[in-house]
Amino acid sequence: MLWRSILLFPLLGIAATAASIDNCPGYTLRNVAESDSQITGDLILAGSACNTYGEDLTHLKLLVEYQTNSRLHVKIYDENEQVYQIPKSILDPPSGQQDSSSQQSDLVFEYTKNPFSFAIQRSSSGETIFNTSGTNLIFESQYVRLRTSLPSNPNIYGLGEDSDSFKRETTDYTRTLWNTGQAFLPTHSNLYGSHPIYIEMRDSQAHGVFLSNSNGMDIKINQTAEDGQYLEYNTLGGVLDFYFLSGPAPADVARQYAGVVGLPAQQSYWTYGFHQCKYGYQDVMWVAEVVYNYSQANIPLETMWTDIDYMDLRRTWTLDPERFPLHKMQELVAYLHNHEQHYIMMVDPPVSLNDSASYDAAVSSDVLIQNDNGTTFVATMWPGAVSYVDWFHPNAQSFWTGQIGSFFDDQSGVGVDGMWIDMNEPANFCGYPCSNPVQAAIDGNDPPAPPALRTTWDPLPGFPSDFQPPGTSSRRIKRDTSSANMTGLSGRNLDNPGYTIANGVGALTVGTIWPDLPEYGGYVQYDTHNLYASYMIDASRQGLLARRPAERPFIISRSTFAGDGTRGGHWTGDNASIWAHYLLSIIQNMEFASIFQIPMVGADVCGFNDNTTETLCARWAMLGAWYPFYRNHADISANYQEFYRWPLVTAAAQKAITARFQLLDYFYTAFYQQTVDGSPTTIIPLFFQYPNDPTTLDISYQFFYGPSILVSPVTVEGSESVSLYLPPQDIFYDFWTGERVTPDGTNTLNLDNVTYTDIPVHIRGGSILPLRANAGAANTTTQLRTHDFEILVAPDVDGKASGSLYLDDGKSVKPAQTTYLQFTYDNGHLSVSGSFDYDPGVGFKGVTVLSSSTLSSAGGSNSTNTDSYGRVGTVRQIDEGFSGSWTVDV
Ligand SMILES: *[C@@H]1O[C@H](CO)[C@@H](O)[C@H](O)[C@H]1NC(C)=O
Ligand SMILES: *[C@@H]1O[C@H](CO)[C@@H](O)[C@H](O)[C@H]1NC(C)=O
Ligand SMILES: *[C@@H]1O[C@H](CO)[C@@H](O)[C@H](O)[C@H]1NC(C)=O
Ligand SMILES: *[C@@H]1O[C@H](CO)[C@@H](O)[C@H](O)[C@H]1NC(C)=O
Ligand SMILES: *[C@@H]1O[C@H](CO)[C@@H](O)[C@H](O)[C@H]1NC(C)=O
Ligand SMILES: *[C@@H]1O[C@H](CO)[C@@H](O)[C@H](O)[C@H]1NC(C)=O
Ligand SMILES: *[C@@H]1O[C@H](CO)[C@@H](O)[C@H](O)[C@H]1NC(C)=O
Ligand SMILES: *[C@@H]1O[C@H](CO)[C@@H](O)[C@H](O)[C@H]1NC(C)=O
Ligand SMILES: *[C@@H]1O[C@H](CO)[C@@H](O)[C@H](O)[C@H]1NC(C)=O
Repeated sequence: MLWRSILLFPLLGIAATAASIDNCPGYTLRNVAESDSQITGDLILAGSACNTYGEDLTHLKLLVEYQTNSRLHVKIYDENEQVYQIPKSILDPPSGQQDSSSQQSDLVFEYTKNPFSFAIQRSSSGETIFNTSGTNLIFESQYVRLRTSLPSNPNIYGLGEDSDSFKRETTDYTRTLWNTGQAFLPTHSNLYGSHPIYIEMRDSQAHGVFLSNSNGMDIKINQTAEDGQYLEYNTLGGVLDFYFLSGPAPADVARQYAGVVGLPAQQSYWTYGFHQCKYGYQDVMWVAEVVYNYSQANIPLETMWTDIDYMDLRRTWTLDPERFPLHKMQELVAYLHNHEQHYIMMVDPPVSLNDSASYDAAVSSDVLIQNDNGTTFVATMWPGAVSYVDWFHPNAQSFWTGQIGSFFDDQSGVGVDGMWIDMNEPANFCGYPCSNPVQAAIDGNDPPAPPALRTTWDPLPGFPSDFQPPGTSSRRIKRDTSSANMTGLSGRNLDNPGYTIANGVGALTVGTIWPDLPEYGGYVQYDTHNLYASYMIDASRQGLLARRPAERPFIISRSTFAGDGTRGGHWTGDNASIWAHYLLSIIQNMEFASIFQIPMVGADVCGFNDNTTETLCARWAMLGAWYPFYRNHADISANYQEFYRWPLVTAAAQKAITARFQLLDYFYTAFYQQTVDGSPTTIIPLFFQYPNDPTTLDISYQFFYGPSILVSPVTVEGSESVSLYLPPQDIFYDFWTGERVTPDGTNTLNLDNVTYTDIPVHIRGGSILPLRANAGAANTTTQLRTHDFEILVAPDVDGKASGSLYLDDGKSVKPAQTTYLQFTYDNGHLSVSGSFDYDPGVGFKGVTVLSSSTLSSAGGSNSTNTDSYGRVGTVRQIDEGFSGSWTVDV
């Protein structure tokens, strides 16, 4: 309160004399100290301050680190280190590492002293990938601008989360990063998460640029007569903390980015099964009936989910005692676990003022966000008046662990198998300044309306703390900027900064909690807003680990920031049951898996908002089987859309899940690879696989599911035709028939008979796939693990192929034993070698070698000509195990 009102006057004074942003003087680089692996210098404001959006900082520092031969760190920050920087407790990119030099590095830093600008060159080609000389650097207390020139119409990918094209528009385009929940995923808007990383493809070479900055920002990509083509960062604060990644292959950029933000977390085997949810399952009997109906329909349901329906009046950490009573919930979970199935419930971040148990626990551990005057901040969410956890408070983790530990206790609570965390942008339904959070909930008309309550009353001296009016705990946030470095400048207008980012919902105060809210340690929401979910994911992960220490925590979050793949996964939020969002899901999966390093990702299958149709749901059931996270989910206002509701969708889902199950260990291996070294091996854009093929730069609706499987769904509603691109560098086989396919002269395969129970899937020649046999008989992934393997060999034109298989117990954080096998095939000889420590208790029972002959005649004398899945090839029965290397001739 104090700092805000006092400093408003100087800010107003500045505004009166503020100069146009175009007249800002830039900086002069002085006192340069240069070694082989590091450059430092002082940046001094080069003229009179323009003070357009706050004050120009007069003294900055430059730090350049040649961290590795492929990673260059460039940081521009304030001399006194008062400007907010992302806390290392949530994202700790490498700093201080200098294992390369300007002579060895693929990327070289060039600079001009006055006015200061810099450029990054690729040393091998001399190509300039980043060049800020076009405009002056601006570094103000509430606005930081840096522009790089680019070649015309650059091939840029990344900078999510959004619902726009895969390859970024290059003219008059703004990507705003400010986490916000928006149903129906409007285009040209910021959405739930923020990922300030892009990959650019130039002449078949890729590089990446990551700006480690969590402030709200507009990234503008534009092409104008005066300025040419550029990309410009306009942030509301923070420092310029860049990581330039040299590639040169897109997959290299992905690995290099993982080296900055961390490797994705491994997920349990069961999480790759099929999941079902709907907002609007009225009671626990209804939930059970859905489970039962899936079983009756012979569609393998792995995990049942419950949305906020289970809560008592929408309060997190409570059960509706009539509709979802504890003893029945426990019986449901026991039933699911007995049938080798799983259960997950939604958790929202705020605590209801009406839930005395949770509220008192939060107040007594002092972990709720407070106003400047020390009262608890109150706003509105599903249950009415709520308060929000301050994740920076040292007690926040123990509070959250306690909530998880008691509510989800395997004996006395509901023994869920993962957490689904929502509304963590964070969402707030009460409009600024929210004078009546209770009324806001009633006006919001979300059923059921909470009973009226008093948000405040007189203190009751002598009574216990829960008799005292809410928010009277006495904690004061210390904003001692002299001791707390990097927590943010004082004196900023946090709720209404002068520079307006293009937030799709309006002002920064809309739909969320106020930017000026202080957090423990001297932070403010203004700076940390985009990290709210990251802290919640992290706290949830620690909470789940405290409860089941040996098991990989499964967390699906709506909001995310860079680095969250290290601790959780993402579903793409409240899409709609429309064809455009079926297509969009492909782009979003490629972005999250291959660019943002959050490979456990998927969209709501059949669409969340609005009513789906039988044909859309059939197509989507088949597409979703090639998402890492495969869940059917619908809104309360939408019709029921479980796969069993239509015969066509049932058939589509059965076929798709059977294919997913055949390939589950193949995909588990691919996912494992990404967790080991960041290789983009899960959902892969075509240009990642074929960077030398410019045609792939514009392909948005075909993708690789793991390194060997090309998925090319129908892209036109109502159509049974698809023209798919088959990169000429490889040959391809139809996954369903095993026959080699031959594209036309433009490398296109035209299919005009793709029914609603078909999806075109192709195997890249040169691949070996370890398939689970008889996958259609498995009712869960647990059953699937008891099935033998069959090896499918799809040779390249030279008759060679390779593949791998990773196995472990499927759930341990640190598996005691693992098995990693390499398969190699060379013209009739298959050899299998590797490490054999984990014994899955099954064997290898068959080998099928597909024929690269386009005549599709199956080979040798001792072969049958179709395998158990009906694929045409040379088939050989074998009986091999997991005790050591073996070879076989086929
Ligand atoms: C804050 O930053 C200044 C300037 O770099 C430094 O001298 C000081 O030691 C830092 N203080 C703390 C508490 O880290
Ligand atoms: C950066 O751009 C400026 C202006 O076009 C140009 O003069 C300079 O040579 C460029 N620097 C590099 C390293 O390409
Ligand atoms: C792109 O440039 C044009 C011409 O200067 C301008 O009118 C437009 O606002 C710019 N768009 C963005 C997103 O900056
Ligand atoms: C389950 O299936 C039965 C029989 O088809 C149907 O009447 C019922 O509505 C279904 N219930 C749910 C929750 O899907
Ligand atoms: C799957 O089959 C196994 C073995 O018959 C059985 O124990 C389990 O309950 C079944 N699960 C489901 C979901 O049908
Ligand atoms: C504390 O600050 C909040 C938010 O500005 C305000 O609504 C509330 O009335 C204040 N309470 C007191 C006791 O000053
Ligand atoms: C969905 O269908 C139901 C009944 O089938 C209808 O009442 C409702 O209006 C439909 N919703 C939309 C958004 O069309
Ligand atoms: C289309 O596919 C169906 C089902 O697979 C098949 O029966 C039919 O022969 C196919 N028609 C053509 C023209 O390929
Ligand atoms: C047939 O099987 C035998 C082993 O039973 C193997 O040695 C031989 O290479 C196979 N021939 C062909 C053509 O696959």
